[in-house]
Amino acid sequence: MARPKIALIGAGQIGGTLAHLAAMRELGDVVLFDIVDGVPQGKALDIAESSPIGKFDAGVTGTSSYEAIAGADVCIVTAGVPRKPGMSRDDLLGINLKVMKSVGEGIAKHAPDAFVICITNPLDAMVWALRQFSGMPAEKVVGMAGVLDSGRFRYFLAEEFGVSVKDVNAFVLGGHGDTMVPLSRYSTVGGIPLPDLVEMGWTTQEKLDAIIQRTRDGGAEIVGLLKTGSAFYAPAASAIEMAEAYLKDQKRVLPCAAHVDGAYGLKGMYVGVPTVIGAGGVEKIIEIKLDRNDKTAFDKSVDAVKGLVEACKGIDPTLA
Ligand code: APR
Repeated sequence: MARPKIALIGAGQIGGTLAHLAAMRELGDVVLFDIVDGVPQGKALDIAESSPIGKFDAGVTGTSSYEAIAGADVCIVTAGVPRKPGMSRDDLLGINLKVMKSVGEGIAKHAPDAFVICITNPLDAMVWALRQFSGMPAEKVVGMAGVLDSGRFRYFLAEEFGVSVKDVNAFVLGGHGDTMVPLSRYSTVGGIPLPDLVEMGWTTQEKLDAIIQRTRDGGAEIVGLLKTGSAFYAPAASAIEMAEAYLKDQKRVLPCAAHVDGAYGLKGMYVGVPTVIGAGGVEKIIEIKLDRNDKTAFDKSVDAVKGLVEACKGIDPTLA
């Protein structure tokens, strides 16, 4: 049986890391695409030359032509610009919206059956626009944010409790921005919910609140340190987890920016919710019960995403 084909649209910091991870994990053959000629080819050759040493069998090629992504099973989109210190993700909207148009049309033409994972920011608006431009089925176009945001939350919690990251589960809902909603009640250490751990005296509410704020600011913290770009290792690892869930029909329960139509009282918009990812793409949207505070925070996050979508429609009237 032929290997799956994974197309990476954008061969920058995240794109290159994605290519390396996908090849090392032997998820399939990798095609790196970028408009800057030479970069995808150079990164692909470098990774391919590491394969005898890393002992992985995966074709890795670079291209500046959309024809080369033909028939891809998975497309992961990082094309666009990242933020610099002082910028919010929303500041990228105008530039990256134009990029989503060309990428959406390119994928729809050459890989219409692919599972598409968008990483480009501002995430919730860009994945919505990508789906509009591509015209692909909603369950096959998804945004990567929740896995990353909850990964950051889990890492900070594991540090605080001095336990393995493997024993920490966490949930983050809502848009991938300052209004994201880390959910304490649904986040656990060894199966014990965080509020119980506070009651048990293992941590304090103040420390937990500080961790939640650090999670919300997780992307900005990295941008502030790097100064020339934004995070790429953890975003790439997060998208690879989603791609693997699709390719291996794992039915993983992962928080993703999914097209929600009906659940949570929402009508046809992309926002971060718990989903089941398998061979059908987003196979299920899980509607969890929110308490009053969480619901207020989620509604605020939804409103922020709606504002960005309206801004997209203002820039490109074909989206209205
Ligand atoms: N088509 C294909 N590739 C493009 C296009 C386009 N129309 N426009 C830009 N690119 C490429 C750039 O040439 C660059 O190589 O996208 C790549 C982006 O890479 P980086 O600048 O290194 O950005 P990266 O850190 O990978 O982040 C990409 O993901 O997390 C988000 O906010 C981040 O929006 C940013 C995106």
